[in-house]
Formats: sequence, structure tokens, C-alpha cells
Amino acid sequence: MLPICHVALVLEFSAQHQFFEKMNLKHSGNSLHEIYAQRDAHVGDKYKFFQADVRLHSAEKDFVVSDFLRQKYGGLVENLEVLDVGCGGGDTLVKFCDWGFEPTNLHGCDILESRINQAKKKLPDGVTITLGEPSDLAPEQYDLVTAFTVLSSVTDESMRQELAEQIWSKVKTGGWGLIFDFRVNNPRNRNVRKLLPEDLKRYWTNAESNTFFKTLCLAPPLARFICPISYRLGFTLSLLPFLRTHFVYAMQKTK
Ligand SMILES: C[S@@+](CC[C@H](N)C(=O)[O-])C[C@H]1O[C@@H](n2cnc3c(N)ncnc32)[C@H](O)[C@@H]1O
Repeated sequence: MLPICHVALVLEFSAQHQFFEKMNLKHSGNSLHEIYAQRDAHVGDKYKFFQADVRLHSAEKDFVVSDFLRQKYGGLVENLEVLDVGCGGGDTLVKFCDWGFEPTNLHGCDILESRINQAKKKLPDGVTITLGEPSDLAPEQYDLVTAFTVLSSVTDESMRQELAEQIWSKVKTGGWGLIFDFRVNNPRNRNVRKLLPEDLKRYWTNAESNTFFKTLCLAPPLARFICPISYRLGFTLSLLPFLRTHFVYAMQKTK
């Protein structure tokens, strides 16, 4: 059954691959800035909130991340110091504000100035947004460090490992690193590469056996096709683990 999910992803990634080919973007020769700028200019309404598949994926992610916060903190999040690495337009931090995190405890960083500006517009006063990499920030300051679909966008293994180690270095002793990302690879798309919990276990040392792992997100091509016809059918299919293309993984730091 697993190949169904992979076939759907091949179709999806093939479309993305053609887009990047059309834009004549070679990952090795262009910076992430250029890739994201071109993508933003051509993505249209594909990821807008009103798309049924986007709503399903957002609901799935909210459910799993909020379940992590319930399990590990009993839902008491007000005093948690949080860093969202690769915060993009700030959607995760906006969500955390809604869920009762104290805005002055929330921090985000991203290397794209346009994304940072979008985030600043959406977020309340008190949230700190920094243009740059996590390496620019002080170590071991945060109870929770999140990175959502960030590591998969760094395809070079040594750069990915360095960024993952940077993310981990920001976590306080006793704190958590929390990753949401792709778990399915496609060799035809050179601009994203899957990540697995096993990779994070290699990158993150001093970790307790205390972990959290859930798979989620109905394969995007299926979700995009099915959800506009029947959101409930999309939701039902998302209950099948082999159709899920993403994961949430968290590890706690011991020292
Ligand atoms: C696919 S977007 C995800 C944005 C956001 N996390 C979300 O879930 O909506 C990946 C983001 O990671 C950022 N990024 C990639 N490498 C980074 C790095 N080394 N430091 C900070 N941000 C980075 C990109 O600029 C981009 O905004």
C-alpha cells in the first residue's frame, strides 16, 4: 500500500520539479533566497487558507502539536520560552499566541527578509523576530525550539546537519526540540529532501529516550484532489498511516 503515497508524491514533486526547471533554478547555483522568491511569485492561491487541503493539513498539524503540548506541559504554555527557527510568515507563532503562549516569550528567526516582514505584520507586539540563522542567537535559552518544514529545505547533508545542531544548541537542559517535516523522499525534486526521526537522533546528542513521534498529513496530491470534493473523505483517508507524508518528532535535552 505504501507505493500509493509515493506515486502521489512523485506526481506532486514532478510538478514542482517542472516549475523549478521552468524558472531555470538550479539549487546548487542559486540561494534559498532566489528559490523562495521565485516560488512566492508563482505559487498563486495554492497554499491559501481557504483551500480545503490546506485546512485539513493545518487541522492535522494543530492536533498533533497541541497534543504534544498537552502531554509534555499539561497545556500550561504561558511561561515557555519558544524559538521558531525558519518562522517564515509567522503562522506557527500566531498559532502559539492563540493557544495562550505569552507573546514576550515567543521568538522567531528566518533568513528571508520578506518572510520576516510578513511575520511582523501578523504578530502582536512583544514577539521578537530576528533576520538571520539560529547561530546568531544565544545558546540554551529556550524551553521549546521548533522548526517546521525547514530542515527538508536544506538538501545538502552537511549544511542540514549544521542547521539541526544549531537548532538543538538553542534548547535549554530539560527543554524540547520539535520538528515537523516531510518523511517521504522524491529523487526528482532537488529542492526538498525528506527527513527522518533517525536523522534527528544522529544530529541531536544529549537527548533523553523521552521522545514524541506522530505521522500526519494526507499526501498533498491526494488531499488536493479529494478535500474539495469531500473534506470528510480526506479526513478519513488521513487516518491511514501509509498515506501520511509528514511527521512531528520531538526530543528532550538532558544536559
Ligand atoms: C518551507 S518554509 C517554512 C516556514 C514556516 N516554518 C512554516 O511552517 O510556515 C522554510 C523556511 O525556512 C527558512 N530557512 C531555511 N534555512 C534557514 C536557516 N538556516 N535559518 C533560518 N531560516 C531558514 C526559509 O527562509 C523559509 O522561510
